[in-house]
Amino acid sequence: MEQDIQEILITTAQLQERIRELGEILTAEYSGKDPIIVGVLKGVVVFYADMIRQIKTPCQMDFMWLSSYAGTDSTGEIQVKRDVSQPIQGRHVLILEDIFETGSSLDFTYSHLLAKGPASLKICTLLDKPSRRKPGITLQADYVGFTIPNAFVVGYGLDFNEYYRNLPYIGVLKPEAYS
Ligand code: IMP
Ligand code: MG
Repeated sequence: MEQDIQEILITTAQLQERIRELGEILTAEYSGKDPIIVGVLKGVVVFYADMIRQIKTPCQMDFMWLSSYAGTDSTGEIQVKRDVSQPIQGRHVLILEDIFETGSSLDFTYSHLLAKGPASLKICTLLDKPSRRKPGITLQADYVGFTIPNAFVVGYGLDFNEYYRNLPYIGVLKPEAYS
């Protein structure tokens, strides 16, 4: 697994430090608002578990599961495999995502949840890869962990063909590991 990594882009220590900083910001933002933190499965699970423990105000957890991505390339077709489990109308909702790349999945998630009438809807993404944004996507993340260059990354929840999610850092995959 580790031998397939070309370069460690973000270390475990850097991840923990940034999540602690984001936690302070999100705690201030959501104190007294009883937010629902919606994670987009599966890539977000590791970030979600660390992030939620840095949000030090009462909140509820929920998840959405989309399907669309295969290998290193998006197939474009997005579907809801599993929707949030409770009404979010009138609630403050924060979407947690692993990575904002082309923007297709976040755009879909945002519109899907907005249609349910939340009191507020914001986005926190661990990684932002703006160089890969699809033309026409005007959506922006409210909170970003790290802005990264145009490379395919794995680890800390992010996968290639469902592998590498358990690496404790964000790494760039060697091109030969794709084939
Ligand atoms: P989108 O292209 O912004 O719609 O991203 C859709 C999904 O693709 C993300 O939620 C990730 O699960 C996955 N993805 C995008 N870029 C990468 C990457 O560099 N490594 C692993 N997964 C990625
Ligand atoms: Mg993925």
